[in-house]
Amino acid sequence: MEKYVVTLDEGTTSARTLITNRKGEIIGIDQAEFTQFFPQEGWVEHDAIEIWNAQHKTLVQALNKAKIKGDQVEVIGITNQRETVVLWNKTTGLPIYNAIVWQDQRTAKYCEDMNQEQVDMIREKTGLISNPYFSGTKVKWILDNVPGARQLANENNLMFGTINTWLIYRLSGGEVFVTDHTNAQRTLMYNIHTNDWDDELLALFNIPRNILPEIKSCSEIYGLTYPGILSKSDKTQIKVGSSIGDQQSALFGQLCVDEGQSKITYGTGCFILMNTGEQRVVSSHGLLTTVALAYQGKITYALEGSVMIAGAAIQWLRDNLRLIYNAIETEWYAGQVDDDRRVYVVPSFTGLGSPYWDSYSRGAIFGLDRGTKREHIVRATLEAIAYQAYDVISAMQKDIKKDLASLKVDGGASRNKFIMQFQSDITQTKVIKPKNVETTAMGAAYLAGLATGYWKDVEEIKKNYQIDFELQPSINKNKANSLIKGWQEAVKRTFSWTKD
Ligand code: G3P
Repeated sequence: MEKYVVTLDEGTTSARTLITNRKGEIIGIDQAEFTQFFPQEGWVEHDAIEIWNAQHKTLVQALNKAKIKGDQVEVIGITNQRETVVLWNKTTGLPIYNAIVWQDQRTAKYCEDMNQEQVDMIREKTGLISNPYFSGTKVKWILDNVPGARQLANENNLMFGTINTWLIYRLSGGEVFVTDHTNAQRTLMYNIHTNDWDDELLALFNIPRNILPEIKSCSEIYGLTYPGILSKSDKTQIKVGSSIGDQQSALFGQLCVDEGQSKITYGTGCFILMNTGEQRVVSSHGLLTTVALAYQGKITYALEGSVMIAGAAIQWLRDNLRLIYNAIETEWYAGQVDDDRRVYVVPSFTGLGSPYWDSYSRGAIFGLDRGTKREHIVRATLEAIAYQAYDVISAMQKDIKKDLASLKVDGGASRNKFIMQFQSDITQTKVIKPKNVETTAMGAAYLAGLATGYWKDVEEIKKNYQIDFELQPSINKNKANSLIKGWQEAVKRTFSWTKD
């Protein structure tokens, strides 16, 4: 009987299930969007039950559509939006508050008010920075603001998880309470030197240790799904064999397994990771030290640049400005004008991430004149996605003191040839797109399959990687530099916009 690996890819705007065969081909897929709540300016929330229901529905539907029964599933892998926090009641299994999403800025003031000693401690121990992006201050906010939360914790009746933990808990019918090193590290509670939760960090945020899950590797059998998860009649219990943050999963799915290899994933945001092997490179240019993978007893690291808004800027053109009907049209519009007419769109709708880290910046459009057309604004928005990635790549090159040889790209915007060519132009670097751009799902699938022996080793997996296209820069360095200068000037002018 032919067997398959199933990935649950739980992103910021949708839950997806993908089914993969041994050759690494996607043979089934299902997707369900869920509600985005914006209760106040700068706040972003999800309903964790809605996420679970959406995820569960896509699991059942993807298998039904592909006519695959439970006993044909070798193993399930999990990959997820990182940093988003869920706190739930151990007795009822129900969340005590909406999930606070990674983009949420409600703890900006708290982060800003930290003293230098605390800021330095966070930087040194976590590899991250004191910023509302990460989970720690969000957990603290729930404990301090949701009535009864602290009491539940005191009674040892509260559980905290990022979305991977929440999904594994639900998949296992409440039996398994674990996370993995890649997700744990993004919480601000994890020490990258001991690779464990850290008491001093927990004390800083006043978070009790008893609410935290156990930290495991990214590739091992954590447990089984509950009987009847697929249907009342199918009682198969399926192994759950991988858990990894979506950006680290894409790094593995792109097979950036060697030091120096890097990828850009264009999703809601845009995340650039460079594998630094067993070295924890500390950035002097606004980047983060991230756990890349915990596999077979070894932990490897990456340098990461996190850009908050990428694909979400195209959504904004469609849903808010109504300049386009469909994301696909943007490539056509951009091609209708010879240049951007020096229009710059800075999409810092939720503040700026790497390398600027300004929670108070807000979006702006610069350089409008009477000749500016929709095409220019669309084009400048696409360019902004590439400029933001450029800022990160340039910081990376300064940190490692050499140029990147090439960039592997994936995610929705990697299909947009205009953005990809522009990315190559301004970074003056070769861009490589694989045929299978579902690299986020593939990373988790491969790690789950490696846990059961479905795939023997990484060498076997490498044979599945095929290139779709490669792009070389089409403008010279001087031209690229003059474009970048305008961009950086525009970004600077958005700094601190909402600061009192
Ligand atoms: O750090 C946040 C990131 O994991 C979210 O990814 O793909 O939902 O934009 P994505």
